[in-house]
Amino acid sequence: MKIVTVVGARPQFIKAAVVSHVLRKKHQEVLVHTGQHFDYNMSERFFSELNIPDPDYNLGVSGGTHAQMTGKMMIAIEEVLIKEKPDWLLIYGDTNSTLAAALASVKLHIPICHVEAGARVHSMTNPEEINRICTDHVSSLLLASTRSGYDEMSKEGLQDKGLLVGDPMYDAFIEYSNKLKPEEIELVLLQGGTIKIPNEFYYLTCHREENTNDEDLLEIFKAMEMLDASTIYPVHPRNKKRAISLQEKYKFTKMVLTEPVGYLESACLVKNAKKIVTDSGGLQREAFYAGKKCITILNFVAWPETMVDNRNELSRPVAEEIVEKLSHIQKIDENYLPFGDGHSAEKIVSALENYMKS
Ligand code: UD1
Ligand code: UDP
Repeated sequence: MKIVTVVGARPQFIKAAVVSHVLRKKHQEVLVHTGQHFDYNMSERFFSELNIPDPDYNLGVSGGTHAQMTGKMMIAIEEVLIKEKPDWLLIYGDTNSTLAAALASVKLHIPICHVEAGARVHSMTNPEEINRICTDHVSSLLLASTRSGYDEMSKEGLQDKGLLVGDPMYDAFIEYSNKLKPEEIELVLLQGGTIKIPNEFYYLTCHREENTNDEDLLEIFKAMEMLDASTIYPVHPRNKKRAISLQEKYKFTKMVLTEPVGYLESACLVKNAKKIVTDSGGLQREAFYAGKKCITILNFVAWPETMVDNRNELSRPVAEEIVEKLSHIQKIDENYLPFGDGHSAEKIVSALENYMKS
């Protein structure tokens, strides 16, 4: 089979890495990078650390409004698909790169396989929800990472196209999260210099459009400042100016602002943090895999499986609420493994093969 895979954003590189390694044993993969994430620390670093083959195409599209980004990507992806004539388009998650690839492909009658299908937050104010719904409805094969995602499909009449395969992020975490020891890591500070990872720390990530205003970020920083150890915050480029200006104005003593870290470092931070505060879909799950208490600063549940026994709780961006919820004791049931068995990449490739045979 010939498969065109389209990726563009950090979490997609991680998922594509584990699937690509299995896929390429038997099939031809043409890898397309839309260009959505483009800084070295947001893109190339993942390709080299995770041994992802170089993209065959880099479309160089990033920034602008959602429509500008999606439209430019569609035009460029259509050209690639017409030239490559693949048996499948393979896409991941819910970014604008995902949607653009899906829309370009369905109009060319090229079947689409969507990994992480069925995930829903039931809020159209979340820009990714629109991408998820549209992508699922034009795809031929919907591969859910969790039971809740699979169940969501039947509510929209999509169950006949759906399969539960587990979460490739879990595969990646198992494969890569022990590659680095904390003492091997040197964090690059956003305002210059480097530091070693402290013995005790909290891990914060925050990049959602919904949270990136000064007031919300300030509340999150204030919460972290009230804790008993420092907080490592690798800052997404979306928040760079804002984070630096808050730090300069308020001179927080416990906030450690760093450049975005690579995946091996991030996974190591997850494993060694006291607790995690995030608005990231990926980091919520990684906190869960590692058994770390997580507070998610969003007003919707993205991964219902994690929201059990105080393991992951939603909070508003309100300092006191974040701190109070961080103090709740979690309970871990070692037998509860809702993200699969760490072999979802194999299941994804088998699903593509079986569909073609049927
Ligand atoms: C995107 C996804 C989001 C995902 C996130 C992963 C959409 C709608 N959103 O959000 O679902 O969680 O990726 O991190 O697709 N920028 C840089 N350098 C980079 C990357 C981005 O400067 O390497 C800048 C962009 O130019 C833009 C801003 O950061 O101004 C936001 O980037 P964008 O790709 O639009 O959205 P993300 O917040 O990264
Ligand atoms: N991550 C990383 N470096 C960072 C921050 C996060 O490698 O500086 C990893 C994190 O461990 C997780 C993934 O990026 O695997 C999550 O991506 P992100 O939060 O950008 O997107 P989301 O999952 O919310 O779509």
